[in-house]
Order: sequence, then structure tokens, then C-alpha cells
Amino acid sequence: MDRRGFLVAGLAAALTGSRALAQMKMDGMPGMGHAGHDMGAMGGAMGGAMGQASAALPEGEALRELPLLANEGGRPGLFKARLTAEPATARFVEGQDTPILAYNGTSPGPRIEAHEGDRVEITFANRIEGEQSTIHWHGMPVPADQDGNPMDPVAAGADRVYAFELPEGSAGSYWYHPHPHGRTAEQVYRGLAGAFVVKAKVDPVPAAYGDTALMFTDLRLAADGTMPDNTMIDMMNGRVGDHVLVNGQKNPKLAVGMGARRRLRLYNATNARFLRLAFANASMTVIGSDGGLLEAPVAVEELLLGPAERAELVVAFDRPGVATLTTLDYDRGWMGPGRPADAGMTLLTVDVSDAPAEAMPPLPGRLRPIAPLGAPTVSRRFVFTETMAMNATGMEMGFLINGKAFEMGRVDIVARAGDTELWEIVNQSDMDHPFHLHGTQFQVVESELGGKVAKPPYLAWKDTVNVARGETVRLLTRQDRPGPRMYHCHILEHEQLGMMGIVDVRA
Ligand code: C2O
Ligand code: CU
Ligand code: CU
Repeated sequence: MDRRGFLVAGLAAALTGSRALAQMKMDGMPGMGHAGHDMGAMGGAMGGAMGQASAALPEGEALRELPLLANEGGRPGLFKARLTAEPATARFVEGQDTPILAYNGTSPGPRIEAHEGDRVEITFANRIEGEQSTIHWHGMPVPADQDGNPMDPVAAGADRVYAFELPEGSAGSYWYHPHPHGRTAEQVYRGLAGAFVVKAKVDPVPAAYGDTALMFTDLRLAADGTMPDNTMIDMMNGRVGDHVLVNGQKNPKLAVGMGARRRLRLYNATNARFLRLAFANASMTVIGSDGGLLEAPVAVEELLLGPAERAELVVAFDRPGVATLTTLDYDRGWMGPGRPADAGMTLLTVDVSDAPAEAMPPLPGRLRPIAPLGAPTVSRRFVFTETMAMNATGMEMGFLINGKAFEMGRVDIVARAGDTELWEIVNQSDMDHPFHLHGTQFQVVESELGGKVAKPPYLAWKDTVNVARGETVRLLTRQDRPGPRMYHCHILEHEQLGMMGIVDVRA
């Protein structure tokens, strides 16, 4: 029997077998403190995943812009503010308060907007009772000791300042989220994530297109309005919710004039949802990736945005009527029963009026140059595997890189600052894993699946790339700042279960 077959059989046994067998034993799983996930929890998991009626959320409200974090810097070139992580309540369903975690009271957190060349000083206050946290600046070129690594926790009740400069050329769509050891997945799905937009000094994209961040999150609500804990199915596949939200709203509405063009920054801030996106009755042009603008715009019919990935789009609304942002089916190798229906969700509805919009300047044909990273001086291989086994006391899962689960005190590889390296990410497992590297942006050079090698359609700066099951992705990367950096699967439950390592960059 292959591994997948074994696993499914194992789960079936767990569901129908003795209580002892269903007792989930999770050795070395930080954050799964209550190791006794029993039949009850499992049954609940299956129920939820198998389409038990979930609460109806209001749709069609006017799209909210993510609230802007006020700059208290008081002089040009300084962005200074405070971010407090704390419990809050949200109202997803009429008459029901949902306890969440929020930055400055909102989820998604406030949008940070700063400019290339700015100095950033953000005081982080951790007011989550009894839990460590950090703020990680996902994708940003910040010093290692300012990057919110799990090795640098901020204790409950404590404050710390994160300070860094935004280099020239770093404009892009980044985000921030917690990264404490063993608790990242939970703190993020409970609400902690926000957008960090670094603006260019000179921006080739017409200002008339606006600039709107759309942050996707994934909500699961129990009947009483609370967010259920992660189950075994969640730990295995990553947590997928019942509602994909945009800026905290379900299928919100936007109104534009005919002929309007809008600049949209799409953020996949879900723990584990793969979003294969298409626009009906509007046309999409990709202008940017995780780390900023492409060299030239690329018209696309659809776009796969894996967990943690971002894309900048220009969407043209040339036909009156209704345009919708919808999802298509994507098979990322779901384990066990309860594969969620990914296709046919409407994430955003745009009303395009008969009245023409004000005339829009055209998008320039060239956006900015991207210098290809040169020939690598080092090459490395990272093999992703999963291990799952049923034994007398329960099921054991492991998510490994080069045969090892993450250990905080262990340096997995040593790299030299300034060296260009070729990283080969080999996915020998049965599900897709979105690979993410801290501290820099990389360039994907090729991917290989079933013996067929493919080049990416365009050169782009990325910090997260999906590696499909059975696929190998080769990328070039260079770290310019010394210090320890994490690399991991951005399905946050997989990161928690060990699919993470440390590269120590030395000067
Ligand atoms: Cu989004 Cu290790 O991070
Ligand atoms: Cu990151
Ligand atoms: Cu993974």
C-alpha cells in the first residue's frame, strides 16, 4: 500500500476503532499540549470538514480598506508606531461575538505604509495572556535580530522595539505576522496578520488606479461563534476554514465606473488555503509578485496564490455589469477525508456601472529592471517528506526537511553573506508545500515535475513558492545580512510540526 493509502486506512481505523487507537499521540509537537485529542475531537473535525452547515455570514457589504497604521514619526523618513497584540472580539455573524486575537483591535491588523529609504521603529506590545509572540516581517530585508524569529520571543506582557531601514529598491507587498515557537499557526488563524506595503519613491503605475490591499484569511466558526481549536485533520493538511474572507469580510462589494482600472495587492494570509483565482467579466494583468514589481506587465486568465504568496494586479473593468473574483478547483494533495470544496467561491463582487469612469492613463510597458542573480557558487538540496504511522497508541506524523524536524538550537546550514546560492527544493511527499525563506527575496529559475523541466513565465522576486507534490523547484538566492534565518513550509501547521530549518548567514 502506498503512503496515502495507508494514511486513509489509518484514519478510517481511528474513526471506527477503539478509543485507545484514536488517542492521538503527538511526540515532539510543541503547541499540541493537550495530547489527548480523542474520538470526540476527531468526530468534530470530520463533521466540520465534511460540510456540516456552517454559520451564514453577511455578504455584499461595501469593501473596507484595511485601516492605516498612523505614523507618529514626526519627521520625514521615519515611520514610528506601536502594535499591540491582544484579545478582541469580532462580529462575523449578527448577534454573535467571536473572540479573536487582533493587532490594535483589528483583524486583519492595520496596514503599514512606508517608503523606500525610511527608517521604521515599531514598538510591539504582547498582551496575549500566557503566550509568547513576535512580529515577523514576512519577505522584508530586515536584520536577522529584528525579524521576529522564534529564537527571539517577546514574553506575555512585555514590549520590544523592532527597528530597521527600508533599502532603495525594496518597494513591495509584504506582511507581518507572529512567529513564536509552536504557536504561529494558532496566533495567525485567530487573527494576527497585517499588510506592510513599501512604496517606491518613483512609481510607474498610474496613481489613478488607486492602490488597494486585499488580504485573504480563512475563518472557521463553531455554532457558538467561537473559533474551534485545530484538529488532527487540520494539523495534517493545514487549517482550512469555512469562509475565505477579504479584509475580514465575506464577498464584499466594490463599485467602479466602466473602463476603470484598479491596482489590487492580493495577500494570501490563510494558514493553508490554495487560492486559484480568476476574474469573471474583467481582465487581470500581473504587475508584481511577493517582492515588488515585475519587469513588464503580464496578462493572465488565472493566478494560483499559495499560502503566504502575494501578487500585484491591475484589473480592467471594461464591461458594464457584475465582475466577480472567484476561485477555481486546485488539487494540492489533501490527506484523508473532508477535502474542502475549493472551486466556485466568490471572494469579491464588483459592480461596474454603465457610466464611464474618468479616463485612465495606460499602464506603461516597462515597470522596472530586475537583474538576474548570477551564477551560484554553492548549491544545496532540501528534500521535503512526510511520515505518518499508526501504532498501538495512536498516529504519529512528521513533516521533515532532509529527514529532520525543526530544532530551535540547531543550525541546519551555514551560508556566507553575499554569495549567490542555488537551492533545490525537492518535494517527495504527497501534498504541496509552499516553501518560504526569510531575510531576502529569491528568483525561481526552473521547476521539474515527472522529468519535465519548465521555466517560470517571467522573472520575479519571490519569498514564497509552491512546490507541488513530486515537484522540484530550483531557485537562486543571496542573503546580504548576517544572522540566523528560517526557511519553512508556510502551511503553518506543517511549520509547527517541524518542516522548518535555520540557515546561519555569516559575514
Ligand atoms: Cu510568513 Cu517564517 O514566515
Ligand atoms: Cu517570513
Ligand atoms: Cu507543508
